[in-house]
Amino acid sequence: MQILRTIEELQNIRKTISTNVGFVPTMGALHDGHISLIKKARTENEIVIVSIFVNPTQFLPGEDLDAYPRKDEADKKICELCKVDYLFMPEISTMYSKEEVLIKAPNKSYILEGLARPGHFDGVLQVVLKLFGITQPTNAYFGKKDAQQLSLILQMVKNLFLPINIIPCEIVREKDGLALSSRNIYLSSEQRKDALLISKSLYSAGALIAKGELNATIVKNKILEIMRPLEIEYVAIVDREFNEIDTIELKNTIILVVARFEKTRLLDNIWI
Ligand code: PAJ
Repeated sequence: MQILRTIEELQNIRKTISTNVGFVPTMGALHDGHISLIKKARTENEIVIVSIFVNPTQFLPGEDLDAYPRKDEADKKICELCKVDYLFMPEISTMYSKEEVLIKAPNKSYILEGLARPGHFDGVLQVVLKLFGITQPTNAYFGKKDAQQLSLILQMVKNLFLPINIIPCEIVREKDGLALSSRNIYLSSEQRKDALLISKSLYSAGALIAKGELNATIVKNKILEIMRPLEIEYVAIVDREFNEIDTIELKNTIILVVARFEKTRLLDNIWI
């Protein structure tokens, strides 16, 4: 595995590759969720590029940019073990100049996650577009865990006619159901226990729907009831385009929940 730090190095290597390139963008502190994306990329492409870049433009003032977990050495080992070909780890000054062409995410980026974090998705799309420009992947891998991010990236690729396949990847969970996240390390053991109510509520919603309940309000109330002890930020039932819906439609519905544990926000969702 080669570790690359400059745009030039990566671009020069990219020019020599004429086979399929699988790309997995990350912010590091790699866990089994990230690893599942990398493994999928490994089985589907001749060349695999992973990036680790804690992107400042997607953090709002006062968010955890400085505290965001950084585990460069462990991450390098993980990538090596996963047989990544190129690991791209740029500095902020490598990725951004003083004045930038900005990307404005569409209106649906200002609901749900975007309501709590206005402008967050502008930064996500900006950095992903830059990373796509450098790596020019055939296939790029994103987790369903960040459903709204995935949806906006799909829209960007469509709107900007980017010749890239976006591959959605399943959510990886702990054995007890908690969705893996780099931010789980912020939880106290008490909070970690309480956090199980999140996946529990989604499983119950799934079971209710499996029994034939398609009324979104009833399903939402079930989730709210189970999550009652938590500080709930939102529960939303949307279609794949992120429009809120009243009636659950099989294969076209995502149920999203966010709960807050002091400063830590935990996201989870299920795709129906
Ligand atoms: P990061 O949070 O590091 O996540 C990188 C990728 O891993 C994302 O596509 C995310 O959805 C996926 N992922 C995280 N936890 C997962 C889980 N439990 N199961 C499956 N996939 C999971 O998302 C970002 O970084 C950034 O916004 C980025 C796209 C890199 C742009 O900066």
